[in-house]
Amino acid sequence: MDMTTGENLASESGTRSFRPQPHSLDSVLHQLHSKYQFLQSGNLATYIPELAKMDPNWFSICVMTTDGKLFEVGDSRQLFTIQSISKVFVHGLALEDHGRDRVLSKVGVEPTGDAFNAIILDEQSKRPYNPMVNAGAIATTSLIKGKGATERLNRLLEMFERYIGHETFIDMPTFMSERTTGHRNRAMAHLMLNFGMIDEKIDEALDLYFQQCSLMVNCCDLATMAATLANRGQNPLTGTQAVPACYVRDMLSVMYACGMYNYSGEWAYRVGLPAKSGVSGGVIVVVPGRMGIGIFSPPLDERSNSVRGVKVCEDLSQLLGLHLFNCAETEG
Ligand code: DON
Repeated sequence: MDMTTGENLASESGTRSFRPQPHSLDSVLHQLHSKYQFLQSGNLATYIPELAKMDPNWFSICVMTTDGKLFEVGDSRQLFTIQSISKVFVHGLALEDHGRDRVLSKVGVEPTGDAFNAIILDEQSKRPYNPMVNAGAIATTSLIKGKGATERLNRLLEMFERYIGHETFIDMPTFMSERTTGHRNRAMAHLMLNFGMIDEKIDEALDLYFQQCSLMVNCCDLATMAATLANRGQNPLTGTQAVPACYVRDMLSVMYACGMYNYSGEWAYRVGLPAKSGVSGGVIVVVPGRMGIGIFSPPLDERSNSVRGVKVCEDLSQLLGLHLFNCAETEG
């Protein structure tokens, strides 16, 4: 199907059908934005004081195709902190720094079925369950190479800029807000040090983790980052290889199994695409070989996923027949 015209849409039963309206991806996005714009449910994350200041009405949907076409609707240029979506990309850099086996020896790839901030490690291996929950992300961040805090932070920023395609920055108020209130994350780091899963540079690793979560992006940036993963790690706008193509498979697999926390199973069932959410209300979704999707809407459901983000993705997957195991797609 031509994604830019959206002419051959999948029906609810998974079979292909032609719908005379809407004819373009652009109009699908506008329709979904109108459909959910006034949905008033969910709550802002308040456990990080700076996030409580966000406007619950902010809402945008962006899609970038792997040939670099951008579709955007709503507050698509509003900046916000990336939060947990950063975990996907730091996982990619850890893989690049150490290879698959070493990263796997320190952080598992199993979904937890628990909240993102659960203080749990695997009973046997003492590893955190996966790089998408906080404990696993702190362990992954602690693996990032560099001579000291500044070099490690610069490496992270350079990595993010390869995906985004332009310079970006850390929001200091959010970083300080997380640094002074992140007692749970600090407790997890100490627990992992106790089991030898991370080294003793705990404060450096935590600062780096809080900084990666405080990176400023907009919804178009999210779509570009997702499109880069959809394009085997090559940024469709700049042509830069953001991560070696061989690691994209690992990143997407972990997103697919664990990216939406304790909603990951139902997400896989309903949407059927690798994705990652964050507590500021962002969601990225990767349609391999085709497009990256970014959604931003701060109110969260009880599993800390964006309420509008989940609804838009369920509709988009259905309307465009994007589910990876969609029979109609595999037949086509
Ligand atoms: O460590 C934290 O709690 C936040 N900086 C990130 C958590 C997050 O985004 C979880 N996502 N839903």
